[in-house]
Amino acid sequence: MKVTVVGAGAVGASCAEYIAIKNFASEVVVLDIKEGFAEGKAMDLMQTASLNGFDTKITGITNDYSKTAGSDVAIITSGIPRKPGMTREELIGINAGIVKTVSSNLIEHSPNVILIVVSNPMDTMTYLVHKTTNLPKNRIIGMGGALDSARFKYRLAEALEAPISDVDGMVIGGHSDTGMVPLTAHATRNSIKVSEFLSEERLAQVSEDTKVGGATLTKLLGTSAWYAPGAAVSSMVQAIACDQKKMFPCSAFLEGEYGLDDICIGVPVLLGKNGIEKIVKIELAEAEKAKMQESAEGVRKTNGLLAL
Ligand code: 2OP
Repeated sequence: MKVTVVGAGAVGASCAEYIAIKNFASEVVVLDIKEGFAEGKAMDLMQTASLNGFDTKITGITNDYSKTAGSDVAIITSGIPRKPGMTREELIGINAGIVKTVSSNLIEHSPNVILIVVSNPMDTMTYLVHKTTNLPKNRIIGMGGALDSARFKYRLAEALEAPISDVDGMVIGGHSDTGMVPLTAHATRNSIKVSEFLSEERLAQVSEDTKVGGATLTKLLGTSAWYAPGAAVSSMVQAIACDQKKMFPCSAFLEGEYGLDDICIGVPVLLGKNGIEKIVKIELAEAEKAKMQESAEGVRKTNGLLAL
């Protein structure tokens, strides 16, 4: 399997590293516009191959999309990350133009590619790719929910004082500080509902901490996070590469599912060789349905800023 990562910054390089270490891809091409930057990142990563035990071939290229030709999956991480105090939505002015150009270049050289959009504001960038390319909707996937769910599990394990491996939970909705919908009623500790162990107040705090998980890290780091985003992407790519039919919350183009239409927003999907194999319908509590509708209103507002 050939994978391209556009953007050799911290998130892109983490994507490339985790994909390589998982050893399911034959080749990872990292592309950046900054002269020599992707080449340097790729060489540095290749020098970990003997130490980390992978045979994946990682190459770097400066802005030459011909080298990405024939990619099975391509990940768009390019664009500016947010600074402390910024919302993801504030990035739209610069990132929309970048994502539109990058997606077009990728498809030109890999017409059968499955695109994973990471650049923020991610749901709107995913929608932009839908509206400006002719890729079928199953081959345009927004990465946000996988990351938010990982943060949710982290916060749940912290509250439960349990190992992460004992905890399961999912976050749907928009990938924004206010639009996420952590499904606390569905979360479990070794198949037991977490509400058996945590008070409503504590669970509410877990939800709030999850929603601002990205902003919390941006405040600490001075820029957006990269390890967990990279790990989330690599898990999604592995599900596609290995045709796992694995369930992730991903930003997908909806045509009536969850009562929503003409929008990209986080919903449970099965990922496999065709990208989004299926959008999974789960029963939501009334409160969760209301939060999903509210979240969609926020995403549509940001979509309205696109010059489509
Ligand atoms: C995050 O939440 C970068 O949006 C990404 O960390």
